[in-house]
Amino acid sequence: MVARDDQAAKDQLLAERRGDEQGRGQADARDSVGRRSEVNEAAEVSDQQHDRQGPGELSEGAEPAAAVGAVPQAGDQVGQAVPDDHRTVVAASVAHRFVPPHPPRPEKPVATWRGFFGERARTSVYGWSQRAFEIDYLKRDILGFRVHILLDPALVQHVLLDNAANYVKPDIVKTLLDPIIGSGLLTSDGGLWREQRRIVAASFSPAAVEAQRAMFVRAAREAMARWSAGRHDMAAEATRTTMTVIALALFGGDARLTSDAAMAHIAAAIEGFSEARMLALLRLPQFPVTPKGRAGKRGQVFLRKTLAEVVDDRWHGRVEPDFLTGVIDALRQRFADGEARALAIDNAATFYLAGHETTANAITWASYLLAAQPELQEQLAAEAQAALDGGADDVAERVPRLRLFLNEAMRLYPPVPRFDRQAVAADRIGEHGVAPGDIVSIWPWMLHRHRKYWDDPDAFDVERFAGREGRHRFQYLPFGGGPRTCVGAQFAVAEALTILAHWLVAWRFAEAGHDVRVAGMVTLRPKGGLPLILQRR
Ligand code: HEM
Repeated sequence: MVARDDQAAKDQLLAERRGDEQGRGQADARDSVGRRSEVNEAAEVSDQQHDRQGPGELSEGAEPAAAVGAVPQAGDQVGQAVPDDHRTVVAASVAHRFVPPHPPRPEKPVATWRGFFGERARTSVYGWSQRAFEIDYLKRDILGFRVHILLDPALVQHVLLDNAANYVKPDIVKTLLDPIIGSGLLTSDGGLWREQRRIVAASFSPAAVEAQRAMFVRAAREAMARWSAGRHDMAAEATRTTMTVIALALFGGDARLTSDAAMAHIAAAIEGFSEARMLALLRLPQFPVTPKGRAGKRGQVFLRKTLAEVVDDRWHGRVEPDFLTGVIDALRQRFADGEARALAIDNAATFYLAGHETTANAITWASYLLAAQPELQEQLAAEAQAALDGGADDVAERVPRLRLFLNEAMRLYPPVPRFDRQAVAADRIGEHGVAPGDIVSIWPWMLHRHRKYWDDPDAFDVERFAGREGRHRFQYLPFGGGPRTCVGAQFAVAEALTILAHWLVAWRFAEAGHDVRVAGMVTLRPKGGLPLILQRR
């Protein structure tokens, strides 16, 4: 374990910070609009009891995990004796201070092999120690990969911006994603990436996003038309809605992409990643053996075949021109026909996969945080109502507090909790030597809850993003950073705000007694969905 700073100074800083937080927590008790935290020292105590009961592990931990699927995860996965039942911890019980659930954080790391079993093998953010939220850097050797985990925004900036040319998408990620998104924007590097980025960025320009706003409204309304008062899984609702948005906005509403069968195949393709990731990590050929793995493969094949038909229809002018037609035309101007067609399919698959699960998770976590804070929900509903009175399509521009809320929701539950790079040439990141081929791992999950960079980091604070003072630009990274920042970020934010505003004015979300836990290797979602009670306003 390498902690960069002088330990004594760090301890001092942390002690001071804890003092500050206690003070702040009391201030929150007077000011916050959030609900009174329901808990829960009890939960904390019971996890601590588990800590004491289990056998101790002395070595540093590491866990296999996925960035966009594959790179080995160096957890400093603590929690020597924390059971793999993913008990969530609510850390404090100060009145009006709301700390939504996160996995337990034991004090010490566990052995590498434990990362291959239980909850650690299924949930990338599970099992990190408190220490990972306090130090600047971690290094791990896992299955022959050296992994550098950067927990200091200045180090992250070096990789994502200052020396970005030296850090490419890892080979293992490309191997895993190749059958589904090939060499599209997300997985390519160098000149091919640059050419595609120019084309795709133009397609996602502010004006282009503005032209799509009516589609966000339509998808939001279609979802509500399905609802009745009572219990609904908001994770499934959000996923269906964002899939509809992508199909409407990018593929002219093509029915082949919105059928129930299509949605089931795509969900299976995403589910199948975990087995494919394990095969890639172990350098085994990609022959899935479990039912889930095989369903995933069928889902991939379906998606590629369907998107090839969708591309060919536009290529030959058989359907009205739409967003994808524009991308195809631009690709045809720069590449030979064969390559242009292949890249059109790769990018169609990229938008489909990268563009719906992520936004769906942002909306899902936002729905949970609304349900958990009823007073705040009422305020935001009133703001949304006033904004909608001024028009539906551009509502996202008139909901400043909902925007603050969404930012804070994505801080606590970043839809992409981790992503990776691989070093091309030797380099130094701060004081840490990097060899060619090393993996560099960037974790919004830890950066967004890091004790050095945020006050009271695990607590929800809707005002947190009201000012920018003192924040490093690479400490808040829901959409990544530098030249490879999410090309769909503006689209996604406008989409999420439009959908939430429409939902909020017509429906009230209430908790349904579900034990909310985080899950997922690639994206962060609630385990077992998110059942909420919907009440008509
Ligand atoms: C809340 C929703 C979203 C989140 C949190 C999100 C997050 C991210 C992150 C973290 C990256 C950078 C990954 C890296 O650097 O390795 C990224 C890249 C990307 N995202 Fe998003 N994304 C979202 C929505 C979308 C949407 C709606 C689209 C398209 C329709 C999209 C398309 C892409 C593409 C194509 C890239 C690759 C860009 C490049 O490498 O040049 N994303 N996204």
